[in-house]
Amino acid sequence: MPQYQEKTIVTRVEHLSEENVRLTLKAPQIASACKPGQFVMIRAALGKDPLLRRPFSIHQADSSGHIQLYFKIVGRGTDLLAHLKVGEEVSVLGPLGKAFTIDKDRPVCLVGGGLGIAPMLYLAKEISRSKTGSTNGDLVILGGRTKGEVEPVMADFDEIGIRTLATTDDGSYGTKGFVTELLKSSDLPANTQVYACGPEPMMGAVSLWCEEQKLACQVSVESVMACGMGACLGCSRPVGDGKYVHVCLDGPVFDARELKWNS
Ligand code: FES
Repeated sequence: MPQYQEKTIVTRVEHLSEENVRLTLKAPQIASACKPGQFVMIRAALGKDPLLRRPFSIHQADSSGHIQLYFKIVGRGTDLLAHLKVGEEVSVLGPLGKAFTIDKDRPVCLVGGGLGIAPMLYLAKEISRSKTGSTNGDLVILGGRTKGEVEPVMADFDEIGIRTLATTDDGSYGTKGFVTELLKSSDLPANTQVYACGPEPMMGAVSLWCEEQKLACQVSVESVMACGMGACLGCSRPVGDGKYVHVCLDGPVFDARELKWNS
């Protein structure tokens, strides 16, 4: 799997809500090599502050050599990224990690919560592109705390043509509640492949429910990462029996049954 250290150029910065930003970068090498579920490491500033690279899942990639990242401003690093100007240069390392496995012959249900929505757009597009049959049985469920986390990306999912439902914790957009409630009431076919990304409690609930229902489930795990390449051990995660995996190398996508979840 090729990886590149690429000097990318900012081509667009969209402030989709007060906190949520979508950044488009011209990154021909990474765009041609990446797959849904993979991530990149970005250094937010060329100086020493902030020093470390940060991981971002790939939100979209296209054949014209662009990648997109979707993130929330949560600190100095993301604030710097959010205020980049078109034409500025950003050093990006990637694509990194294990991608989602796409099975084009079965129905799918994509569940994205909060920033877990980010990789789901790329995945939904690739699934729609690769399927030869109908996507009528397919479903996307997006959730967030409030309207600003979900509404700005709904049009992109609607364009793909897969049925998309939204829910927010405060009821300001879509139904009021959690993605797991929509998932449980969705009457999915028995051979559905579920894909999930979001906060740990959400993914735990989705994974355990899928196990009960005997549904296949792939999850993309969020983790603190300093190197993204297996060198710092900062992303290790217990999987039971005293064993650990590295989210950056062994994931971030896992079969949900491989991981240990708190019920
Ligand atoms: Fe350094 Fe995974 S982020 S080992």
